[in-house]
Amino acid sequence: MNIDALPGQPDGENSITIRPAIALDVRQMWEIDQACFDPDIAYSMDIFYLHLLVNRDPAFVACESSGKIVGFLLTSQDKRRGGQVVTIDILPPWRRQGLGSKLIKLGEEAMRGRGAKKMALQTDVGNASAISFYGKHGYKNVKTLKNYYSHGKHAYQFEKPL
Ligand SMILES: CC(C)(COP(=O)(O)OP(=O)(O)OC[C@H]1O[C@@H](n2cnc3c(N)ncnc32)[C@H](O)[C@@H]1OP(=O)(O)O)[C@@H](O)C(=O)NCCC(=O)NCCS
Repeated sequence: MNIDALPGQPDGENSITIRPAIALDVRQMWEIDQACFDPDIAYSMDIFYLHLLVNRDPAFVACESSGKIVGFLLTSQDKRRGGQVVTIDILPPWRRQGLGSKLIKLGEEAMRGRGAKKMALQTDVGNASAISFYGKHGYKNVKTLKNYYSHGKHAYQFEKPL
């Protein structure tokens, strides 16, 4: 994925709006995921269709005034009604401006509204920014999942009561 082909520099925080994701957003969301992660961690487009269109799981996008998506949150819910962060991706120029925080709070609120009692997620043990981000939002590292990703990369499982 050529990151230069994605939206450019921020033109001010006020120009960003957050809304629920719709079917037409899937391609942009997938492209951002490809830009944010190595190929062995990034999701296939099928995963986006499954969560967004088939399961109708809560998902939110942050958009520029032009409508271009610069970040998103995708969640899912398991049979025991636990919430899961599938992924949260903010394009590099828009990081550290509070967008990820706004998105995860919306996801937690949506899951609470569906009766979920906790949120869980997995992140690469080497993803220092994500580990710090989740820690700031009250998530605790509960276990290490060995060889969670392809090529033998390990993950941490983080959880937070809702
Ligand atoms: C992790 C990610 C979603 C955070 O989004 P963001 O919009 O930059 O986060 P926020 O601006 O809301 O940051 C909130 C807090 O998280 C922590 N944080 C975020 N990025 C950090 C970084 N690079 N280093 C250290 N702490 C960080 C800080 O405590 C920050 O608060 P502060 O800016 O007041 O210090 C973003 O870096 C990203 O998209 N990364 C690539 C994709 C990814 O790894 N997603 C996680 C998948 S499991």
